[in-house]
Amino acid sequence: MGPRLRIVTGKGGVGKTAVATALALAETERGRNVLLAEVNGGDKVTALLGVPPAGPHLREVLPRLWSVDMRADEAMHEYVLLTLRFETVYRAVFENRLVRGFVHLVPSLTELVMLGKLWYHEKERVQGRPRYDAIILDAPATGHAIALLGTPHAVEETVPPGPLRDIARDLQALIGSPDRSRLHVVTTPEEMPVNEALELERAASGQLGVALGTTVVNQRLEPLPASALPALAPLAADPEVGASVQALDRREARLVRPGFGAAELRELARLLAPVVAA
Ligand SMILES: Nc1ncnc2c1ncn2[C@@H]1O[C@H](COP(=O)(O)OP(=O)(O)OP(=O)(O)O)[C@@H](O)[C@H]1O
Ligand SMILES: [Mg+2]
Repeated sequence: MGPRLRIVTGKGGVGKTAVATALALAETERGRNVLLAEVNGGDKVTALLGVPPAGPHLREVLPRLWSVDMRADEAMHEYVLLTLRFETVYRAVFENRLVRGFVHLVPSLTELVMLGKLWYHEKERVQGRPRYDAIILDAPATGHAIALLGTPHAVEETVPPGPLRDIARDLQALIGSPDRSRLHVVTTPEEMPVNEALELERAASGQLGVALGTTVVNQRLEPLPASALPALAPLAADPEVGASVQALDRREARLVRPGFGAAELRELARLLAPVVAA
């Protein structure tokens, strides 16, 4: 079956959302029920899919594909309702201005609650079968992702025995178990994104204890067609087009597309199909 949870991260702008969405589509192509979650992402996933925004509550945006843009306040609300089951208690406690301020002052609490939501959905069963066969997290960029995924372990180490530490242990068991979750690093073939990819890979096998899945090199450089070289040669002599000259030296050019739309997303999903089949 492969791991149920796939966490997608990498440097800002490398294509995390595109890759996470494509992985989710590749899973639905296999007939699987998929939950694709963003963390305060601004509903980029649904924009990319060309469907109305999912917002903070799970919605089936395409057949077999559920989406959500997790936000701290709503995740907290949901979590409290799931555990306490009383809206009035939630209102009394969490809508109190002082408590609200306090909740935001404990950063690891919001992170625990977001991961807790994924944990809950990973465990969710309908008539004995998992509610979702795959959960894809379009995680924040490098630093924030390391902070998010490092929270359970940090809480386990620092908080005295009690319910909070038990929750942290459950979350660490989820993200730290190779048959339950994988971290997919996305990069582009450029120095800074690759450095962040290496940082993430080190963190994954070091302090985070998360198994690595396939690393995706997105937006790779394509060889220039040989026929293009003579026409571009005069540019190489022009000192004002340094970057182009560099590209010419490597006989490579970025594959420039007018946009990244539905067709490109489908193509990326097709390319990434072996990742979810593995
Ligand atoms: N393989 C690709 N080919 C062409 N364009 C791409 C590809 N992947 C992503 N893009 C484009 O690159 C831009 C950034 O992609 P995306 O939003 O997925 O990155 P991100 O890592 O999620 O960014 P952020 O850090 O802001 O969340 C978008 O305009 C997207 O359409
Ligand atoms: Mg994104």
